[in-house]
Amino acid sequence: MKISIENETKLIEEILEAYGVVHKEASIVADVITDGDLKGFSTHGLGRFPQYIKSIEAGTIKIEGDYEIEKESASSAMINGNHKFGHYVTVKAMDLAVKKASETGIGIVGIHDSNHYGIAGYYSDLASLQDMIGIVISNTEPAMAPFGGKKALLGTNPITISIPTDDIHNYICVDMATSITARGKLLEAKRKNEEIPEGLALDKDGNPTTDPQAGLEGSILPFGGFKGYALAFMFELLAGPLVSAACGDKVEGTATPDVMCTKGDLLIVIDPEHFAGSMQFKFYVDQFVREIREENGVIPGDREIAMINEHHANGIPVDEALYEQLTEIANKKELDITAYFEE
Ligand SMILES: NC(=O)c1ccc[n+]([C@@H]2O[C@H](COP(=O)([O-])OP(=O)(O)OC[C@H]3O[C@@H](n4cnc5c(N)ncnc54)[C@H](O)[C@@H]3O)[C@@H](O)[C@H]2O)c1
Repeated sequence: MKISIENETKLIEEILEAYGVVHKEASIVADVITDGDLKGFSTHGLGRFPQYIKSIEAGTIKIEGDYEIEKESASSAMINGNHKFGHYVTVKAMDLAVKKASETGIGIVGIHDSNHYGIAGYYSDLASLQDMIGIVISNTEPAMAPFGGKKALLGTNPITISIPTDDIHNYICVDMATSITARGKLLEAKRKNEEIPEGLALDKDGNPTTDPQAGLEGSILPFGGFKGYALAFMFELLAGPLVSAACGDKVEGTATPDVMCTKGDLLIVIDPEHFAGSMQFKFYVDQFVREIREENGVIPGDREIAMINEHHANGIPVDEALYEQLTEIANKKELDITAYFEE
């Protein structure tokens, strides 16, 4: 079974609006989720959508009220997300960071009391689409044990960096968890009743496991051994106490929808116009990309381009278990969603 990108967007908007979410927020959530599926991050696409509905039902995602700017300087701001949709709060925070960067050269925005926001790369792209460099760092509910330990005390703490380019064939972005894989890959394997590959996770006793549930109860390994762990450690603090959010095992609610979310985000936007100059920066960016391609090298972002082309042409695959979850969600609001899907 599959769904087209257009239908996925309409499906998410229709369901969210039936659950009381206003259109401007529903359309942002739909856009981020479909971007995740388009780029091949199915773990953070439609597959994560049922989690958000559970959060609305539990009251941990608030459909009333709005985010607040708590503190502001020419180049920085602190945002209280007031437990609105993470997608909506982070888009608004990124808009603010871009505005500040265009005025001062740099815009840094911290967010607390927001919610899970899907793929980090959507937000860094908002900056690169406006000729700026976008960086996003977040922490999450623990999934990774400290190097040398057994108990999960660090999140999968993603980082994304998007770089502007003048070449329409280039998309330059790295969007990655600091764990060897995102938690979503274990959740997806569990939903599909599949094993995970060896070398991704340990059970709660610290033994290697291919059982996704045992990995979720234990820990996911860092990418790149100590170096991935060390980055996750730093991001725990930069996206935690620095922005009035929790860190370590005090971070909750990114994978458990019935608990108020305590994670944080740090958004950094740099406007090259205030440094080397935008034209000059992009000239050297594109020259570097050409040099890498001449060596048959892969550019961070190439895989996303390949996935976007594939999914525009062939649609997004939807497994049976996910279809059933979506149908159950729709039935509660007496919506018929069958026409959105095709075999
Ligand atoms: N919202 C959250 O709390 C949260 C937490 C963790 C991760 N995430 C998201 O999960 C998603 C998946 O993260 P991940 O680390 O599992 O991703 P991944 O390991 O599949 O890929 C990481 C990055 O490396 C690139 N890449 C990997 N292999 C490649 C190859 N062979 N050729 C070219 N490029 C390649 C990908 O395109 C991507 O930019 C990301 O979008 C991330 O933002 C979100």
